[in-house]
Amino acid sequence: VHWTDEERQAITSIWAEVNVEEAGHQALTRVLVVYPWTQRYFSTFGNVSNATAIAGNHMVRAHGKRVVVALGDAIKNLDNVKATYAKLSELHSEKLHVDPENFKLLGETLIISLAAQFGAAFTPDIQAAWQKLMAVVTAALSKQYY
Ligand code: HEM
Repeated sequence: VHWTDEERQAITSIWAEVNVEEAGHQALTRVLVVYPWTQRYFSTFGNVSNATAIAGNHMVRAHGKRVVVALGDAIKNLDNVKATYAKLSELHSEKLHVDPENFKLLGETLIISLAAQFGAAFTPDIQAAWQKLMAVVTAALSKQYY
């Protein structure tokens, strides 16, 4: 993957202002509400069966943060995302059995959460760089599936 200076700048300038816990919570909440079949992966999290329960579930909050912290590892290693996520890909495939289609869904909901936070500052060019980032993240997380 080749990153232009503009793309790197678009990603890191937004990232510097992201509230990791809030963005993660919103993105994971949206996945669970908008795509309710994803709820089955989180049966150990207690009640995640409706929007109110999901919004108030502290395990969803903690996990959303964890996912976005992990996204930070990709951003720090933009030229090496596949290797960075090798172990995480293996975990989601072999242990968690998460259908890789779901990575795309989380990418979309994260971008919607960023758009909501940043408003007009989340320009089309910045969105384009983030869409590319989430596509690279999705591909890397899907790498260890067979
Ligand atoms: C666990 C990252 C997407 C389901 C994890 C962990 C991380 C992570 C860092 C903790 C790993 C550990 O315990 O060592 C990510 C990233 C994603 C992503 C970066 C995409 C950007 C998803 C999606 C789903 C999912 C879309 C399901 C719809 C899970 C589950 C666990 C997990 C069920 C275990 C939770 C637990 O029991 O604590 N993920 N994940 N992940 N992930 Fe993901």
